[in-house]
Amino acid sequence: MNRVTINPDRSIGTIHRNLYGHFSEHLGRCIYGGIFVGEDSPIPNVNGMRTDVVEALKAIRIPVLRWPGGCFADEYHWQDGIGPREKRTRMVNTNWGHVVEDNSFGTHEFMELCRQLGCAPYINANVGSGTVREMAEWVEYLNSPGDSTVVRRRWANGRKEPWGVQYWGVGNESWGCGGNMRPEYYADEYRRFQTYCRDYPGSKLYRIACGANTDDYRWTEVLMDRAGRFMDGLSLHYYTLTGPTWEEKGRALTFSKSEYYELMHRGAYMDELITNHARIMDRFDPQKRVGLIVDEWGAWYLVEEGTNPGFLYQQNTMRDAVLAAMHLNIFNRHCDRVAMANIAQTVNVLQSVILTEGEKIALTPTWHVFDLYKAHQDAKAADCFVETDRIGEGKWQVDRVSASASVKDGAITLTLANLSMDEAADVAVRVPNSGKVSGRILAAEAHAHNDFDASPVASADYTDFAVNGGEISLSLPPCSVAALTIA
Ligand code: AHR
Repeated sequence: MNRVTINPDRSIGTIHRNLYGHFSEHLGRCIYGGIFVGEDSPIPNVNGMRTDVVEALKAIRIPVLRWPGGCFADEYHWQDGIGPREKRTRMVNTNWGHVVEDNSFGTHEFMELCRQLGCAPYINANVGSGTVREMAEWVEYLNSPGDSTVVRRRWANGRKEPWGVQYWGVGNESWGCGGNMRPEYYADEYRRFQTYCRDYPGSKLYRIACGANTDDYRWTEVLMDRAGRFMDGLSLHYYTLTGPTWEEKGRALTFSKSEYYELMHRGAYMDELITNHARIMDRFDPQKRVGLIVDEWGAWYLVEEGTNPGFLYQQNTMRDAVLAAMHLNIFNRHCDRVAMANIAQTVNVLQSVILTEGEKIALTPTWHVFDLYKAHQDAKAADCFVETDRIGEGKWQVDRVSASASVKDGAITLTLANLSMDEAADVAVRVPNSGKVSGRILAAEAHAHNDFDASPVASADYTDFAVNGGEISLSLPPCSVAALTIA
């Protein structure tokens, strides 16, 4: 028997809505085809943005969207993407497939997308191949209410009022594709670049420094020590892979039981990473002013056969849904330090919530998890103590049950995942008072997935529980994710 004990009176803080954020890069068919099809497309769109994709993202209440990369961000020059489209500069996207980037999706298009989605924009600016002036002027172009030549260009391009973009990333993976810098060097560069990213009237910036790759704790230590007081957020990137080497990664659709548990085991490492990076941040910032921004996470497999290796297109199964549920539970449980998380990536790249093919669309099992978890956004985290056993294959062991809880408007939301591939899990949930309980569940065989012809994976009402005073006894099917509302 697994036990979950919820104490709503003990809380580590609020689960910021941005923990449910997304990331969209100029990579493969994420922006082009997946989100932006242009005004003249036969695919229904509003100002070039696919209506079906916008509606699907609004349905899961997308709170924040990071753009334009990723590695692409450090080769992106924002002036190339403004003004009349036919006059925009062309470039080759050397990071992702060497395809032509015609810059038809630029700053104005991104801001229009965020307007339609009703989400906050998070712009990741270029340190690796950009200049301080270029970054400073991008902030000015978007945020300044003044009258300067830069601002007049914005007016000429059809936008009078400043947008007031709050979230700014200063470089991406500066330890790798963003310039191969050492932490000491980047810390100084960060200090210099962020100095000229000005707070214009009405637009106080939230400055995000490039953080560590996985377990590079020294990077966090050096950044916090040398630049901590100049930042609001520090990022962390960690992807979940299976397989012995990068080149021999696992696949999305075909995997053994051992690979299933390998993914779960490696995914659960996110908890250890956050704990350790947060511990270092605590030494320099005990007030927890600086947020840990997990702005790239998710499963990364070999691309689907027959697709461009530079496009990172992969399918998405029920196994990925459980991985996502586990991650979101981890972020909720660390909401005192984690201020934002962005799954990579929104459409058609890596662990997407949406796949498209021409005019067709499929909502992945991961989309359904974001749908089940949306009540956590801006809720107060509730202490949620989990007693469970370990399951797995060989060295790939993991907790059987993952959970997190929050309180909003007098109701508790409890989200649970049964990580077992083939066994149901009985769970006893203790709460101080359980009034009316209702639930939704996403359950299917681990390989189940949605595609353009059929979508067998979808959430359903969940009733397989009994309420007895302060205890709810429930049974979770194998490989499932559930959300309970306890009123
Ligand atoms: O999400 C794909 C790539 O992964 C991003 O461009 C980069 O930041 C990371 O290495």
